[in-house]
Amino acid sequence: MNKLLLSFTLMAACVTVASSSVPVYLDETRTIDERVEDALSRMTTEEKVAMLHAQSKFSSAGVPRLGIPEFWTTDGPHGIRPEVLWDEWDQAGWTNDSCVAFPALTCLAATWNPDMALLYGKNIGEEARYRKKDILLGPGVNIYRTPLNGRNFEYMGEDPYLASMMVVPYIKGVQSNGVATCVKHFALNNHEVNRHTTNAIVDDRALYEIYLPAFKAAVQEGGAWTIMGSYNLYKGQHVCHNQYLLNDILKGEWGFDGVVVSDWGGTHDTEQAIANGLDMEFGSWTNGLSNGASNAYDNYYLAMPYLKLIKDGKVGTKELDDKVRRILRLAFRTTMNTRRPFGSLCSPEHIAAARNIGEEGIVLLKNDRNILPINPDRVKKIAVIGENALKMMTVGGGSSSLKVKYELSPLDGIRKRFGDKAEIVYARGYVGDPSGEYNGVVTGQNLNDDRTAEEIFAEAVETAKNADFVIFVGGLNKSAHQDCEDSDRAGLELPYNQDRVISALAKANKNLVVINISGNAVAMPWVKDVPAIVQAWYLGTECGNAIASVLAGDVNPSGKLPMTFPVALTDVGAHSVGDYPGTPRNDGSDIVDCSYSEGIYVGYRWNDKNDIKPLFPFGHGLSYTTFNYGKPSISSDRMAADGKITISIPVSNTGSRTGAEVVQLYITDVKSSLPRPVKELKDFKKVSLEPNQSAEIQFEITPDKLMYFDNERHEWVAEAGDFIALIGSSSSYIKNSVKFKLLSDTTNATNK
Ligand code: BGC
Repeated sequence: MNKLLLSFTLMAACVTVASSSVPVYLDETRTIDERVEDALSRMTTEEKVAMLHAQSKFSSAGVPRLGIPEFWTTDGPHGIRPEVLWDEWDQAGWTNDSCVAFPALTCLAATWNPDMALLYGKNIGEEARYRKKDILLGPGVNIYRTPLNGRNFEYMGEDPYLASMMVVPYIKGVQSNGVATCVKHFALNNHEVNRHTTNAIVDDRALYEIYLPAFKAAVQEGGAWTIMGSYNLYKGQHVCHNQYLLNDILKGEWGFDGVVVSDWGGTHDTEQAIANGLDMEFGSWTNGLSNGASNAYDNYYLAMPYLKLIKDGKVGTKELDDKVRRILRLAFRTTMNTRRPFGSLCSPEHIAAARNIGEEGIVLLKNDRNILPINPDRVKKIAVIGENALKMMTVGGGSSSLKVKYELSPLDGIRKRFGDKAEIVYARGYVGDPSGEYNGVVTGQNLNDDRTAEEIFAEAVETAKNADFVIFVGGLNKSAHQDCEDSDRAGLELPYNQDRVISALAKANKNLVVINISGNAVAMPWVKDVPAIVQAWYLGTECGNAIASVLAGDVNPSGKLPMTFPVALTDVGAHSVGDYPGTPRNDGSDIVDCSYSEGIYVGYRWNDKNDIKPLFPFGHGLSYTTFNYGKPSISSDRMAADGKITISIPVSNTGSRTGAEVVQLYITDVKSSLPRPVKELKDFKKVSLEPNQSAEIQFEITPDKLMYFDNERHEWVAEAGDFIALIGSSSSYIKNSVKFKLLSDTTNATNK
């Protein structure tokens, strides 16, 4: 044997020896299923049970003996939460745990741009990864049923199609970092009052058509690796261990192969947790959300009590193995994926992404006399009025509260953009909530004001009179009973007497823009008196820059509302015929039954059905340019049951600025055996056009877009007959329509 051949042979022998000594579960050339089975076969029952529950506020154990790492979770969903102590919610006091705050998910949804969702996911995933987190507790996709829900800002609006389209890229972006998303709160957690005791009563049709599609898309199209069970009950069973939602639908019908994580303190019963689909239990106690002693993780429902049932022979290990398989699969996708990237924190790219998403999600609701954008060369004195021009909004709101590298306020953003040409003056206008602390993170702002409300009001009116332009920045904040976890708003009105201030400002100066910062619709009794209104959401780190660039016209607004702005609460289905916030049972239990009696008629579906004119419709948003919609054409006006048709419509920019338009496709079923909404969003395209530029927008329609869910048959049905495709710039502003016919009935068990 020559020397070369000998050394090759020796090398090959070494490789064989080396690879055969690697246990299968550590061998990344093996399939995940092979690795899972191998790891499972090496584990003791005690080790398996130890994986099923928390070991600290935000982490769970791995298998130390086998080198399988711990899992570290983090909120979510707008930035990476600061570190807390092992057993407590108190701050750990680290100095390297500040993050970039991305805009709230309502803002992301308002971009109507799935590319922005991908960018968001990729960037926040990088922050999570750098901070050594394996599971990001977000995004949230609970449907916006009532504008009072304190957590709507963490979700993606009222429409199941829009939420589905936006959640999928977010998940893919995050998970491309080897960090799992934990899509929450599954399901029917649509308000915060009594969130642990509300029993949602919803018919299957509304469940499948309205409340589940975004979760289903998250699982089947996004490939989410974990899902968080919600606090509430459904069919009288807590959702964290719910036969119907977790076993039958999520794991059964949808084939979810990931991990069901409980919401923190959402587990209530060992036997139900074993049998009804929960895989990992978090937050049950240790002086946090629920009662109990510290260091009590061994007493969690899925800890010693489970082990005891197994040891006593009262339950078998079939469920245990299924849960552990799922958790091991998660490990191989995240902690044990040696190829996952390392992430990055507070990078210029993340800051730029936060700004871009914010700018693209801001919605121009009204712009009479084209008073916006503000020409920096034409105004000498700008009055900025309102508490939200100053107040830091990244601290507060509950579990999504952050500790940020920085947060640029609207006032500072306006000063930065306009301050070299114009004098910027500020007046408070009203005092809302001067507090600035959440879980030990303090904003450091002193917002106390000792003057009387009248003095503060008078100063604002005077300041407005003496300015060329007035920018009022108000809305809600992240304090209890505003946009905040664990409580709902008391009403649709703006708090702290802001309506009075705005009305007075409108009288004092005709050049007024009201910027509403909120995650929810608010009533605007002064809407006719105010020429320009901007919906600005919670924009995070780059808030001030994003707002200023829209005000100055550096960015042409292109956001569209992901929810209807009603005139009054009585215009909302949940408040009109629904049962918000539910009725306590009279049976000695603490259960509050909440009937979703409005059924599928949520948001614009309710307005359409009852011919109620909204304050601002779903899908609405103006631009500094104008768009013309031409005549649509259709590839065929007849669709076979397995066919598809294409609708094209020319859209052109008829104004003088480059701008983007969201062209929306709604579908009407002309005649149907079951009542159906007047129209439903089934597609949209965002297109950027230069002045005089046109584009041909194409929508492909397949029978699944024509389906409703039939409760009786438990399947999706499209009935033969006439349909109308409506193309518009909002749900109320339909520019054109085209008819077509579905030639025969078609059904689908899954509507995939
Ligand atoms: C919230 C979750 C959150 C968890 C951990 C719960 O109270 O409902 O959304 O992820 O706490 O902070």
